[in-house]
Amino acid sequence: MKIEDRITEAVKAIVEELYGQPVADKMVQLQQTRAEFDGQITLVVFPFTKMSRKAPDATAQEIGERLMAKLPEVISGYNAVKGFLNLCISSSQWIKLLQEIQTNPKFGFLPVTDESPLVMIEYSSPNTNKPLHLGHVRNNLLGWALAQVMAANGNRVVKTNIVNDRGIHICKSMLAWLKWGNGETPETSGKKGDHLIGDYYVAFDKHYREEVKQLVSQGMDEEQAKQEAPLIKEAHEMLVKWEQNDPEVRALWKQMNEWVYAGFDETYQALGVGFDKIYYESETYLEGREKVEEGLGKGLFYRRPDGSVWADLTDEGLDEKLLLRSDGTSVYMTQDIGTAKLRFQDYPIDKMIYVVGNEQNYHFQVLSILLDRLGFKWGKDLVHFSYGMVELPNGKMKSREGTVVDADDLVAAMIRDAKELSADKVNKLEGITEQEAQEIARIVGMGALKYFILKVDARKNMLFNPEESIDFNGNTGPFIQYTYARIQSILRKWNNEIILDEKAFETELADKEISLIQKLQGFEAAVRQAGQDYNPSCIANYCYELVKEYNQFYHDFSVLKEEDKTKQQVRLMISAAVGQVIKNGMGLLGIEVPERM
Ligand code: ARG
Repeated sequence: MKIEDRITEAVKAIVEELYGQPVADKMVQLQQTRAEFDGQITLVVFPFTKMSRKAPDATAQEIGERLMAKLPEVISGYNAVKGFLNLCISSSQWIKLLQEIQTNPKFGFLPVTDESPLVMIEYSSPNTNKPLHLGHVRNNLLGWALAQVMAANGNRVVKTNIVNDRGIHICKSMLAWLKWGNGETPETSGKKGDHLIGDYYVAFDKHYREEVKQLVSQGMDEEQAKQEAPLIKEAHEMLVKWEQNDPEVRALWKQMNEWVYAGFDETYQALGVGFDKIYYESETYLEGREKVEEGLGKGLFYRRPDGSVWADLTDEGLDEKLLLRSDGTSVYMTQDIGTAKLRFQDYPIDKMIYVVGNEQNYHFQVLSILLDRLGFKWGKDLVHFSYGMVELPNGKMKSREGTVVDADDLVAAMIRDAKELSADKVNKLEGITEQEAQEIARIVGMGALKYFILKVDARKNMLFNPEESIDFNGNTGPFIQYTYARIQSILRKWNNEIILDEKAFETELADKEISLIQKLQGFEAAVRQAGQDYNPSCIANYCYELVKEYNQFYHDFSVLKEEDKTKQQVRLMISAAVGQVIKNGMGLLGIEVPERM
């Protein structure tokens, strides 16, 4: 049984004995003892003073005395400070806990069974006309981390992606490619498919703007010019043909999307993310239309004289929302309704989490109401995991389009910087091959990027600073990775099994050792908290605190040079456990840790 649980049991029994009243579990409040007092676990005594009819510190004293008598092997001392009973837990208990942590590779994680709630997490969800950018990087990292966190909290998790693969945006790229592409392919151009298509999207835009300018100079007003420009009209015609299943248009569309997907896959792989099931808008938007018509039949929506279909959300304090245009075509919202329908057919979803930027807050507020009205049981409580913008400091890595930072460029730059920065360190590693050095640079560069983005509250806008992120000191991924690598190097030098014998349970631990073990135990609470609040940054901050405390410990105590073999075993076990928890914690964030660095 856990130390806290044993104390809770004992306190309940003691209060009943002393004051003759039953006590509910939640009345027994245990906290970590504040640093300025002796002890590790503190019982809040105030809830019991009404029953004891004594002053808080007299009550604390009374309970403390009995607790010590009842749990002599657990509690080695106590002190009462006003209504707080600070308990000193004996070393043997901490060593037992340490052993439990170190021998349980899944420490801190809840088991997942076939009965566990099914949580679907949608993230990434790109459009197929452009490569992924810095905003997608934040999205992908958050989505992946959140999926790991939810799984570690005992949920069945399905990671999903909705690719917006149809619409006017993709027709623009297609048209530009037909006009100016000369049959160029990823192979002939040497460009990644998503970049190739993105370049044609940019080309479309450039020519289109010229056409608009031309028309305006001929006296047309700008709004009209934007509608009348030959290029945009052609793109619309193409979209109509696409909807009509025109074989040529469909073939081109299929080809170009395939190039894009191959490009996306490379980026996803570099970011270390993946999906269990990918949905495509082209396969869901008609379902959405059907579902809206079904809702219309049930009187949930209404049709205007021009034939368009609307949802009236004014009773919810929102406005009226278009669901089908007068020509019967669907809008963004319609697609999301269709996607929801297919997803629920495929999986018995208990909870749905959408990882989408905060510029779509309103969209998801509306979607939640619509899905609820349409009878999706998870609609009302759907979670829009809404995150803020991320930018680079001015002047850093402006992409070819001049405004957005390309995901592939960013990944490459991070790995290159890590290689340069760690060159002296890594090259000193004995017998290291070029390939190993490159792999370490990849792990460190990606670790820097991921940690920097994930350590901040997702809701906040942020500035990603590459130099700061890759610093080997401070609250960074590489700092944590370095501590991990150092622990592994200690364990390699030891090169022996760590076994605690009888004597270990009789050694007295130093305060710092105890607090480090208690910190390790705190991993469990950090994982729970991250799951409850949908907040991966809890894990990042926990890892940083743990690593700082371990480094203090390593500075103050000898491990390999310790002469007392029992003490040495305990410290090695502490080191191994810290390494394991770092690896698991960083793993929840999608961050790898190197064995050497
Ligand atoms: N593709 C959309 C965009 O780039 C995001 C899709 C978000 N997910 C959703 N279910 N609506 O803005």
